[in-house]
Amino acid sequence: MRNEFLPFTKPAITEADIKAVTEVLRSGWITNGPQNAALESGVCEITGNRFGVALSSATAAMHLLLKIKNIGPGDEVITPSMTWVSMVNMIALTGATPVFCDIDRDTMLATPEKIAEKITPRTKLIVPVHFAGAPLDLDGIRKVAGEIPVIEDAAHALGTYYKSRHVGSDGSAIYSFHAIKNITTGEGGMFVTNDEKEAELMRRWKFHGIGMDAFDRQNRGRSPQAEVIEPGFKYNLTDICAALGVSQLSRLVNINTRRRELAMLYRKELANISEIRPLTDPDYEFKHAWHLFVVRVDTPKIDRNGFMNELKLRNIGTGLHFRCAHLQKYYRETMNFRAGMLPNTEYNSDHICSLPLFPDMTFDDVIDVVEAIKAILAGK
Ligand SMILES: Cc1ncc(COP(=O)(O)O)c(C=O)c1O
Repeated sequence: MRNEFLPFTKPAITEADIKAVTEVLRSGWITNGPQNAALESGVCEITGNRFGVALSSATAAMHLLLKIKNIGPGDEVITPSMTWVSMVNMIALTGATPVFCDIDRDTMLATPEKIAEKITPRTKLIVPVHFAGAPLDLDGIRKVAGEIPVIEDAAHALGTYYKSRHVGSDGSAIYSFHAIKNITTGEGGMFVTNDEKEAELMRRWKFHGIGMDAFDRQNRGRSPQAEVIEPGFKYNLTDICAALGVSQLSRLVNINTRRRELAMLYRKELANISEIRPLTDPDYEFKHAWHLFVVRVDTPKIDRNGFMNELKLRNIGTGLHFRCAHLQKYYRETMNFRAGMLPNTEYNSDHICSLPLFPDMTFDDVIDVVEAIKAILAGK
């Protein structure tokens, strides 16, 4: 039994990160400015996209994207129900209908087939998720999507490659830098695209719709008399946050390598425990970012909630990514979604649990988790 609580996750903050943030605090410019620009170009260098727009969250990016795509009442947006609810909420708030596709039972990724089943003449947008850091079958999804735009929810997937190319590189994608993500800005996100017009609109609407922000006006000699082109929002990221992101980004490869080592040890140690079923790999060439290590608790001995509770009693934290969206109160009651509609999603929603995974964990921590799991299953 561990003496010290092992959290499910912990941000990997170094002295260099603290120094980078402190420098911004001393600099005289703390809202969006040069650190935002550095984060945007740094992320684009990794993903291979032409444009990046830093924002206060991935949810903000999704909100603006739906506006760019002119999504509203009567439109349908296909997305998995096995996702974080913020994306679904944004769709619902536009008045459009979220149309949930099922996922593969063992990779938990939306497949081209599951997406194709849901396409109708009203489908305006497809937002699949690179779940837990594993890449979607992008070629297959683009093929079934045809002319319908696909925006990749890459919130979990900075450092994820599909067939040797970074996810999102051939289109548009959304990243999250929330506290538990592979790199963090505390809260924050980024929209990346190769479409100049999309990037320009995102930039305009993230800051009141005036097409340029305070940094542009005061530091880059742009006109201080900027005016509203169209009403926009206040979704910019501060440079305090962006500096943390820039510093973290410089360690992304190391961070993801460490996550992979820990994940591989979990896989090895759990291989002979039939009641605990990790996710499987997709059957195409890929590189995983290992944002989460998700297992399914599949045994009559104990249910998932009991399992999470037993781990907690043994000083081990866990996460649940995710409780499916379509059976949550609002979606059940207003859109008539029912259990049984998405069997693979619902199976996973009832059985999944995310085990601790963060770069500062040790191999001994992984062994502690596995030993605790063995003890729970043995009824000790
Ligand atoms: C799959 C997915 N999409 C989108 C988001 C939203 O990210 P943010 O918290 O930055 O708005 C999350 C956050 O956890 C997520 O997991």
